[in-house]
Amino acid sequence: MAGIPFDQRDGEIWFDGKFIPWADAKVHVLTHGLHYASAVFEGERAYNGRIFKSAEHTERLHASAEVLGFEIPFSSEVINAAKEELLKRMNLVDAYLRPIAWRGSEMMGVSAQHNTIHLAIAAWEWPSYFKPEERLKGIRLDMAKYRRPDPATAPFKSKAAGLYMICTLSKHEAERKGYADALMLDWRGQVAEATGANVFFVRDGKIHTPKPDCFLNGITRRTVIGLAKARGFEVIERVIMPEELDGFEQCFLTGTAAEVTPVSEIGPHSFTVGEITKTLMLDYDALVRADPAGLKAAE
Ligand SMILES: Cc1ncc(COP(=O)(O)O)c(C=O)c1O
Repeated sequence: MAGIPFDQRDGEIWFDGKFIPWADAKVHVLTHGLHYASAVFEGERAYNGRIFKSAEHTERLHASAEVLGFEIPFSSEVINAAKEELLKRMNLVDAYLRPIAWRGSEMMGVSAQHNTIHLAIAAWEWPSYFKPEERLKGIRLDMAKYRRPDPATAPFKSKAAGLYMICTLSKHEAERKGYADALMLDWRGQVAEATGANVFFVRDGKIHTPKPDCFLNGITRRTVIGLAKARGFEVIERVIMPEELDGFEQCFLTGTAAEVTPVSEIGPHSFTVGEITKTLMLDYDALVRADPAGLKAAE
């Protein structure tokens, strides 16, 4: 499917409660979500036909909508069942899922008090790109020009479409310069995250990561912190200043799409892909692919 534009693919999309042909899943150009970014979304992955932390993603979707002042008119049960059914109908095993909720077209101005709320869920094939020999080289990050905003400026607890404007700008600039992604600071100048993934550092056997007080506390971030602690590694959530980057030995990103991705460079700073990073890559891969029956048997 690679290379085929996303509006021209085959299959079905779950749209406002029904499965409809992929090509018919359209919205009008006068849609509040498009003009004013009143839209929230999720990014989820299925491994071996099982959606990793599906219920948690649905919970976050509802919470994101609430932060933007709207309620998604479908229960978590309905959404979770729709995701499962969609994978079956699309015959997908290793896949990416994209639920998105948005304000419709009844009002077309800043105020959208009476707009109906819509929800669509699409899924497409996304085989794991977990190829240790390639990913173990690590990716290179630029320093982003844009900063994560003050919580008094933007509703950071929502996975809201509008918050990605500075991410796309930063990622484009990084790609133009030959980097894979960019590290964003926050409005205070503290290290925050990459454009679509959280960041971790390792020094002297300890793991350091910024406190998510103005950026998304990723589901993968929380999962990896759990995995690290289960291995007995100390995880320190704290303020990290960019001046400290030189002192770290390892760096990695976490996210649904990124999984655990080692970083080899951030601007002038270099990192090695060390044992802790490799261990967490493998532990995360084992967890997302774990057969629930096997997990139960192991308990
Ligand atoms: C800006 C940003 N930060 C962090 C994350 C990681 O979140 P998660 O681990 O829940 O996918 C994402 C991915 O959705 C993201 O877009």
